[in-house]
Amino acid sequence: MIKIAPSLLAANYLKIGDEVDKVIASGADALHYDVMDGEFVPAITFGQGVLEQVAAKGFDVDAHLMIVHPERHIEEFAKAGARYITVHQEAAGFELKNTLRRIRDLGCVAGVSIKPFTRVDALEDVLEEAQLILVMTVEPGKGGQKLIPFTLEKVKALRERCNQRGLNPIIEVDGGINTQTAPLAVSAGADMLVTGSAFFKAADPREFVSAVRGGK
Ligand code: DX5
Ligand code: ZN
Repeated sequence: MIKIAPSLLAANYLKIGDEVDKVIASGADALHYDVMDGEFVPAITFGQGVLEQVAAKGFDVDAHLMIVHPERHIEEFAKAGARYITVHQEAAGFELKNTLRRIRDLGCVAGVSIKPFTRVDALEDVLEEAQLILVMTVEPGKGGQKLIPFTLEKVKALRERCNQRGLNPIIEVDGGINTQTAPLAVSAGADMLVTGSAFFKAADPREFVSAVRGGK
């Protein structure tokens, strides 16, 4: 079953509660929650306070931490109620393996993300620890960009490498996912799809989610 995670980044922030309800009613599996710190990426978004109120609705929150020193903040995001917590390989440095273990010990799904120009090899030492691998299909930092096609080659390589090792992490893609690109991501091996602007622009969110999921 392919999981769909609409991203709050593309929502109307004056109506956050209604927008979250729209995501829940759409039949999606989780709410993708983009945390940006103005340093790992230029923009600044929202933190654990908003997440806590969103998570209180009882729907899974998929926290994507685009922040430096993510290890300093994972506990707060776990306490706020995130179900998935993903840190960036490029930001976590030598702490990455420990950070993933700590996320798991906190009772969350431990995720690691790589940017488009970070090679799959960079995950070599942590493949066993990662319950979720998020392959960025655009440069992180803003919504509404076009999927970069070569990133899907990385998804394919990663899925093959995991299969060879008997590992079966969730492979998530994020950036430029819509009804045209979703099937390409799924056939490359992705099983969780983030969709921001395309979801919030869709006239019928329920129909959109089932189309993006491809009936799987
Ligand atoms: C980008 C974020 C994405 C973003 C995706 O840095 O990580 O989650 O919301 O938005 P779309 O689907 O519009 O590319
Ligand atoms: Zn994201």
